[in-house]
Amino acid sequence: MAPSSKLSLLSLYQPDWAADPYALYHAMREDGPVQWDDWMRSWIVLGHAEIAQLSKDDRLSGARIADFHAQLPASVRSDVEPLAGALSDMMLFNEPPEHTRLRRIIKPGLTPRFIREMRPLITERAAELVDAVLDQGHMDVIGDFSEPLSRNVIAHLAGVPGHATPLLENWQGLLHEFFTQSCAEVPRVNSLRAAFDEQAAKRRAGTADDLFSQVIAGQLERETYTDDEVFANFLLLIDAGQATTTHLIGNAVLALLRHPDQLARLRADPDLCQVAVHELMRYDSSVQFTTRVALEGMEVGDQHVEQGQSVTLVLGAGNRDPRRYDDPDRLDITRKATDHLSFGHGIHYCLGASLALAEIEIALRVLLERTTELRLRTDDLDWLDSINFRFAKELPVEFGT
Ligand code: HEM
Repeated sequence: MAPSSKLSLLSLYQPDWAADPYALYHAMREDGPVQWDDWMRSWIVLGHAEIAQLSKDDRLSGARIADFHAQLPASVRSDVEPLAGALSDMMLFNEPPEHTRLRRIIKPGLTPRFIREMRPLITERAAELVDAVLDQGHMDVIGDFSEPLSRNVIAHLAGVPGHATPLLENWQGLLHEFFTQSCAEVPRVNSLRAAFDEQAAKRRAGTADDLFSQVIAGQLERETYTDDEVFANFLLLIDAGQATTTHLIGNAVLALLRHPDQLARLRADPDLCQVAVHELMRYDSSVQFTTRVALEGMEVGDQHVEQGQSVTLVLGAGNRDPRRYDDPDRLDITRKATDHLSFGHGIHYCLGASLALAEIEIALRVLLERTTELRLRTDDLDWLDSINFRFAKELPVEFGT
């Protein structure tokens, strides 16, 4: 029988902990870097070294959708089939050899050359967005800036028109419904699929040169993918690349506004943005954990994990592990924290990491260059009601020009 801890990750649903999950992680860490969470029905891993090691352990699997689907009550199982089907085809929920094959659908689109070519476009778009609100002297960093910016970048990458991506706006809500067994939004998966099929048909008829067209034309390494697989992994690309980056930029701006000395350093030397992004990602990521299932019984630290048990890797806790980082709660933009865990680790390491880093760096640089005296309009922020995704829904700031 696994020992139970007093605190649970679910405590993050309480407003006090939600505002500062890192305080909860530190409190939980007192019971050790690996512990059973009775409420989550999962092992919780809080240590940097343990998370890095387990992320590379092939006895832990990300392929958990079919099991989850099978455990749903019969009354909803068939309703959620389209969604479960799409999730099962995503690289994120597959292991080799399928994972390797599925990752190649998207990987050829994210080359260093593509990212280099994107930089002027990201800079131009970011500048347009800031300039559009300069006269009014205030903005919501999320709604006016980081959300339209990252949506535009993903739309450009995928070759999907910008107006198609709002379809995905409540995708996180849909996933939440699936994982909490309260799925009432299945029709949305079907309408997403219809939009995808329409775009795919246009690519088949046309000669566009975007990633979408390349995949549809079956030109990727002569591998063939089913329509379901392409649909699922484009959905993943659009989703994984959009909200994460939008809110990482928001969390980074918030961290800087709460640390005026660090903000001043960045203003004085904007080239520091390239180094600062790593520390800002370590300090407060938009993604706090990921989950695996044990394929066999195994020892993790001084705990025994049984086959079939869930293991939650709390990336946000690893990022503040005092065994890894001196004074981990201190923001130090010169820290060069390139070993942070916010992009995951191992074979599922974020496919869009280089693009995300470029976007965040450029967004910060443009925002700082075009404004002065950036400050929060309120410190009373409305945090998303989620324990996995961490971000304030709005980030109202004011500035001089
Ligand atoms: C995987 C975080 C931006 C596409 C992941 C994982 C994390 C992550 C933690 C690993 C999940 C796991 O191991 O279970 C982030 C953060 C981002 C970001 C914090 C922004 C700051 C992006 C962007 C894209 C992207 C811009 C696409 C352009 C993906 C994909 C995977 C992934 C496709 C799945 C990789 C696989 O399973 O092999 N991301 N991501 N992400 N990310 Fe990102």
